[in-house]
Amino acid sequence: MTLEKLVVAVDGPSGSGKSSVSKEAARRLGARYLDTGAMYRAVTWHCLDAGTDLHDAGAVAAAVRVADLFISTDPDHEEVRIHGTDVTAAIREPFVSEAVSAVATNLEARAELARRQREIIDAAGRIVAEGRDITTVVAPDAHARILLTASEEARLRRRGLQLGGTQSAADLQRQVVARDAKDATVSSFHEASDGVATVDSSDLDFEQTVQAVLAAVAAQAVSA
Ligand code: DC
Repeated sequence: MTLEKLVVAVDGPSGSGKSSVSKEAARRLGARYLDTGAMYRAVTWHCLDAGTDLHDAGAVAAAVRVADLFISTDPDHEEVRIHGTDVTAAIREPFVSEAVSAVATNLEARAELARRQREIIDAAGRIVAEGRDITTVVAPDAHARILLTASEEARLRRRGLQLGGTQSAADLQRQVVARDAKDATVSSFHEASDGVATVDSSDLDFEQTVQAVLAAVAAQAVSA
């Protein structure tokens, strides 16, 4: 077993392959895996379930502060619970995706979730954490920091595959572009900040992308 501490931070837009690639990189590095987007989704699900007005920034921030939130960091076991309810599948539903930006653009909610994410990262020892602000805000001192990008065309193509090709290309384009535009108002993840390695997955398949990420980790983190 590899014992050295290793924190890998991965940011990127939706459709860049960030989650599946980060999870596989974690397995190969013998590390835990943290999907920070799932935390935003769980809080959003809870606010919707509890009837909290998502436009009331104070109420959303208060809900996040007291949220009893559990997220598995086992790359082979996905589990998210909030106030004891298993929301692992529910948080992937479109109604959550459509509402999540209200939490992601709430600065108090972000500060609280970032604090919890740092705790999880610190406790893990070896971990790959992915999201939108991990390289810049949550873990700017990570051993390796990577921005995983993909051209708009590649991202839309992947999204279409994910959704089973049931929606028109125009609808998909509107959804993805609108969501990324909202998200980018609070954290800029389209350009790498200083010291962050960019991996462009547009023309890479899954295995090639994992290899590119692992190469970036090895180049940045001596202990990897
Ligand atoms: O990666 P995802 O689609 O599951 O993310 C869900 C939402 O949370 C999305 O609107 C982006 C936002 N998010 C964020 O603002 N910061 C993070 N670290 C992770 C996700």
